Order: sequence, then C-alpha cells, then structure tokens
Amino acid sequence: SPAPVNVAVTGAAGQICYSLLFRISQGDLFGPDQPVRLQLLEIPQALGALDGVVMELMDCAFPLLADVQTGDDPEKVFDGANLALLVGARPRTKGMERGDLLEANGAIFTAQGAALNKVAADDIRVVITGNPANTNALIAQQNAPDIPADRFSALTRLDHNRAKSLLSKQTGAPVTDIKRMTIWGNHSATQYPDLSHTTVAGKPALDLVDHSWVEEEYIPRVAKRGAEILAARGTSSAASAAGATVDHARDLFRGTPEGDWTSMAVVSDGSYGVPEGLVSSFPVTTSNGDWSIVEDLDVSAFSRSRIDASVAELESERTAVKELRLI
Ligand code: NAI
Repeated sequence: SPAPVNVAVTGAAGQICYSLLFRISQGDLFGPDQPVRLQLLEIPQALGALDGVVMELMDCAFPLLADVQTGDDPEKVFDGANLALLVGARPRTKGMERGDLLEANGAIFTAQGAALNKVAADDIRVVITGNPANTNALIAQQNAPDIPADRFSALTRLDHNRAKSLLSKQTGAPVTDIKRMTIWGNHSATQYPDLSHTTVAGKPALDLVDHSWVEEEYIPRVAKRGAEILAARGTSSAASAAGATVDHARDLFRGTPEGDWTSMAVVSDGSYGVPEGLVSSFPVTTSNGDWSIVEDLDVSAFSRSRIDASVAELESERTAVKELRLI
C-alpha cells in the first residue's frame, strides 16, 4: 500500500475530534486504499484526556491507521504534515469581549501558522474549523509567509450542508437532488446562504420556494442552526461539524462533482467585489488539493447587500487583528 498521509489535527481531545479522528482513521478522507498517520496537538492540560482517545483509536484496530503521535508543541506535532486540520480554538466564555476572543485565538493561530511555515511538508494544505474560523485562517495564513496563500481554507461546509438539508426538507426533494448551493461571507450569523443558482432536480430552487420564506425563515434558520442545536442538545454541534470537516477536506483532495460546486472560505482574489486577502466564503470547485472560485455568476441586488454585510464584518475583524498586531 502507499506511504501514509500525515494528517495533523488540533483540539484533538475536544468534542469535534471525538468524531473526526475516527472518521479519518476509517478512510473517509482519502479512501479505502490510503493509510493515514495522525499527528495530534493539544494543550498540556488535555494531553491526559487525549491519551484516552488514542487508546480508543487503537481499540478500533483500524486497518488504515498507520500511526498516532501526540504532543503540545506545534513545531514537533506539525512536522512533515501534508494536511493540517486546525480544530482547536479558544471558545468565548462569559464576560469575554470580541476583542478578547480575537486576541486569545490570535495567540494560538499566530503560533500554529508559524510552526506550519517551519515544519510542514511542501504540499501542506491547511483547513481551519476552530472559530472565528475565517479570521483564524487569515491569522494563520499571514503568519506562514512561505506557504502559498491558496493552501489555506476555512470551513463553511457545515452551513452549506445545513442549507441543503433545510431546502431538502422544504421541497421534499432528497439532498442528492440539490446542486449549486452557495454560502457567502463569514462563518457567523451574517453568512449568506444563496439559492439564486441552486437547482433542485434540475429546476431553479427559487421557482419552488417563496422569497419571503427565504428571507424570513430560511436564511435566519441556517445562520442560527448552531444555536438551535445548542439549545436542544445542551452542547454545541460536534458530529455534524466533524462531518463537515471531513466533507471539506475530502472534496478538496478528491474534487467536486462535474456540474456542481461547494462552499469554502478562501483568500479572496477580489472576485465578486470581496476585498483581496480577506478569507471569505465563495462557491468553489476543487481538485487534487486545489480550489478555484466559480466566476461570473449573476449577483442580484438582494444578494449584493447580503454579501456586502458579511464582508463588512470580515473587514472589521481584519482591522481588529491588525490593531492587535496579529497580522
Ligand atoms: P471543544 O472545546 O470540545 O474542543 C476544543 C479543544 O481544543 C479542547 O480540547 C482544547 O483543549 C483544544 N485546544 C485549545 N487550544 C488549543 C491549542 N492552542 N492547541 C491545540 N488544541 C487546543 O470544542 P469543539 O466542540 O471540538 O469545537 C472546536 C472548535 O470548532 C470551536 O472553536 C468551535 O467554535 C468550532 N466549531 C466550528 C464550526 C464550523 O462550522 N466552522 C462548527 C462547530 C464548531
């Protein structure tokens, strides 16, 4: 069999990873013929719990899991990584202002960006799940000057999947009939799930649902789905976030299907009026670890105002991290 792919994962003792690591080890990222080596990063206080997770990984006797390493030093753990999934982040706790959150995460993502720059493999791809995902990705990317900027992407796939699933429920069509869904902007409440180009069994989605439903129910429900799950479950969405991380990374390497696309937050080249350098979600096609933005889609006045609002939020986050000298 081929040499293992080195997959570094952070936040490895957390909730998302309790699902994600098992999916990766099962072959869900690279397929049934490709062994993987896991390189797991945690903070010192969580290394004990991580030992327990590693015991469980061993106890699954996964045929594709070649090796597992753990540690708290990103310069050691990221050594030779071909793919880094940055899941671990500092959650917002009570009384924490937005600036405090950006600063706490800034410390994590400046260090991890710099470590990747130093020790990752030449073909490294970096996927950021930990929140605030877009701006954490910007910080990591800016602190890794030798890694091409297009190697970084942040997750809006959970929003994309939620948007598909809620449209499927509304129209009665299976999710497999839904193509060309787009999430624009920030992975936050300002995100814009856009049905303008979406088709359901080949028909325009906007011919099947009312604009008032889209504006008043659908868009807010997709954007607030995380809060809905938190209220019901008592803890935040973890298995679906792991599933979306798998979908994102798998599609990045194995490609989007012909005639369809996915949503990813990537470093803007100025497409669709999104200022260059911002990490913003776009419709993208992918193949072999690379993505490209789907160009020349019509943008309605309604879409324009929604995209602009989310991009304005990303701009303000970029200004804040510049003021904190994180980039
Ligand atoms: P969690 O709190 O259960 O786990 C996070 C883990 O990261 C903890 O074990 C913590 O010790 C670790 N960690 C913190 N700082 C670290 C560092 N510097 N290096 C390595 N590990 C570190 O959280 P959960 O539920 O696993 O979520 C992880 C992140 O993903 C959160 O930021 C959450 O907001 C975000 N998230 C993102 C989604 C998306 O769609 N982009 C969806 C759901 C969650």
